[in-house]
Amino acid sequence: MRSKILFGAVVSIGFAASAVYAQPFEPLDRPPVPQGNPMTASKVKLGKALFWDEQLSSTRLTACATCHRPAAGGSDPRSVIGQFEATNPGPDAQYWTDDDITASPGIPMTKVSGIYLHHRVFDMRIQVGRRRAPSAVNAGYSPMLFWDGRVNSTFHDPVTGEVILDGDATLESQAAKPVLGTAEMGHVGRDWVDVAARVEQSRALALATDIPRPLKRWINGRSYPELFQEVFGSPDVTPARVIMAIATYERTLYSNRTPFDEFLAGAPIEDVFTEQEQLGWQVFNTVGCIECHPGNRLTDERFHYLGVRPPNDDLGRMEVTGLEEDRGKFRTPSLRNIELRAPYFHNGQFETLEEVMEFYDRGGDFDAPNKHPLMQPLHLTQEEEDALVALMKRPLTDPRLISEVPPFDHPTLYTDSGRMPRRVGEGLEGSGGFMPNMIAFEPPLLGNDNFTVVVENALGRSRAYLLVGFSDPAEGYAADPEHFNPANQAVAAMILDGFTAGEGSGSACLSIPRRLSLNGVTMYGRWFVEDPNTPHGWSMTPACEFTLFK
Ligand code: HEC
Ligand code: HEC
Repeated sequence: MRSKILFGAVVSIGFAASAVYAQPFEPLDRPPVPQGNPMTASKVKLGKALFWDEQLSSTRLTACATCHRPAAGGSDPRSVIGQFEATNPGPDAQYWTDDDITASPGIPMTKVSGIYLHHRVFDMRIQVGRRRAPSAVNAGYSPMLFWDGRVNSTFHDPVTGEVILDGDATLESQAAKPVLGTAEMGHVGRDWVDVAARVEQSRALALATDIPRPLKRWINGRSYPELFQEVFGSPDVTPARVIMAIATYERTLYSNRTPFDEFLAGAPIEDVFTEQEQLGWQVFNTVGCIECHPGNRLTDERFHYLGVRPPNDDLGRMEVTGLEEDRGKFRTPSLRNIELRAPYFHNGQFETLEEVMEFYDRGGDFDAPNKHPLMQPLHLTQEEEDALVALMKRPLTDPRLISEVPPFDHPTLYTDSGRMPRRVGEGLEGSGGFMPNMIAFEPPLLGNDNFTVVVENALGRSRAYLLVGFSDPAEGYAADPEHFNPANQAVAAMILDGFTAGEGSGSACLSIPRRLSLNGVTMYGRWFVEDPNTPHGWSMTPACEFTLFK
């Protein structure tokens, strides 16, 4: 389908390039706005606060923004290949095999009480999703969203099911989902009534720091109900309003200041692309990329099987349609800001664009009857591959995402702020030489009524006590190990799950009083575990130090 000779001719006759590759698509305008959810400046600000507010999640650990950062092209910079915390072991549930997925850490599996549950794969650790986070930048154009297209442009009230917005409301339909996802933001059994109640009770962006000046000035210490009053005319924090505000903010996240946009606006290609980038654009147009990546966002918004993984690893579009022909198909992503969005494909399989080009050059890695016919070996020269990579970088990247200037400016998340509890001091080994471990990462925010802390790696079926104080509880133990009895001072006590040495684990949920005198106060916590195979009958975790904030 591709002619090397024509290609050569186009390259050598300079003016032919711009004639053949004259502005092929309309410039990228702002995304469509559904009737019934008009854009207003205050709604954008409310949506921005909600999008960046980790309090929307049950554990107060993940905001929408946690997995969708501007500087990472609207995706998740934590998805690093080979990193345990970002790895989902895939369908075989075995780590470090070919079907592993590099994706987004969310939250541990959590009960409504805040206690963590034992997940089949992740146990009490933070779960990692089964697909790479696609971009929330430029998401407002798509008639369908998610890799499998499972949400569409009609927005139903997540509580009543009634149609609220009929058309152009794909962002609203989408935003209703992750907040309830038990791997992403929600406790088991969470519904939107729970979410709205949480928003209503939270101080806007209480966990964030470095809030951009205009947003901070707008919030001005007001509660969410007060902000909803200004935006919607009454203080009711309803699920639909939360969602509509988030979607409105997302509609401001479109990136149309790239060299490619200058080209679309009429600039001659040789004025805005380097020679190598022009070659890249020609290869892109001649080897079939453009067939699936057309238009001003470089996507056909359709579903294809490319042979990234065997089709049964993830059924993709078939999960939605049930159709055999859709087995293993995924929605074509836009290529805007692709340079910022590694690792690539739905499973985060490739670290670099060079690897992606090699994948296309060999015609994919797996076969299936529905594999797209364009997925054939391309026999690209090294020069052509390099040119494609060059095209994917500067010409398609909006520098405002990298420098995080408006509309891509944002607060610092709690998880990035250095205020997460820190591990300090040494623990004391228990049976089998296992060192019990304490995990605490939820925010020590005054008024946080479910601050969950975990003990693991201890003796199963034994009794564990959590001690919290203004100094390290190990001091009391060191002072008089013979008579030490944590039972008197414990803020939580439990019998651990698990049976043998090292298997014991459990979690406790503390309520931090909303007492302003505690603001800035540093506290220490440790678990002590009853263990007969230690000198004084106790093993203990290292301590955890945290400073309360308001
Ligand atoms: C724990 C990480 C995580 C959190 C938190 C999260 N997302 Fe996502 N987001 C993802 C993943 C993964 C997908 C793709 C899921 C799929 O296709 O099955 C996705 C998909 C999307 C998409 C669709 C993009 C596309 O092209 O299909 C949008 C828009 C989006 N998220 C916005 C949000 C909003 C709004 C929130 C908060 C209400 C949010 N996300 C919370 C990980 C996350
Ligand atoms: C048959 C349609 C099709 C063709 C042809 C095609 N792509 Fe794709 N492209 C897709 C789909 C679908 C995906 C996502 C696949 C997945 O994740 O499983 C994708 C993903 C990508 C990605 C990674 C995007 C991301 O967000 O991870 C890049 C980069 C890319 N394509 C570039 C190209 C280039 C360059 C060419 C030409 C050499 C090309 N594509 C040809 C359909 C196509």
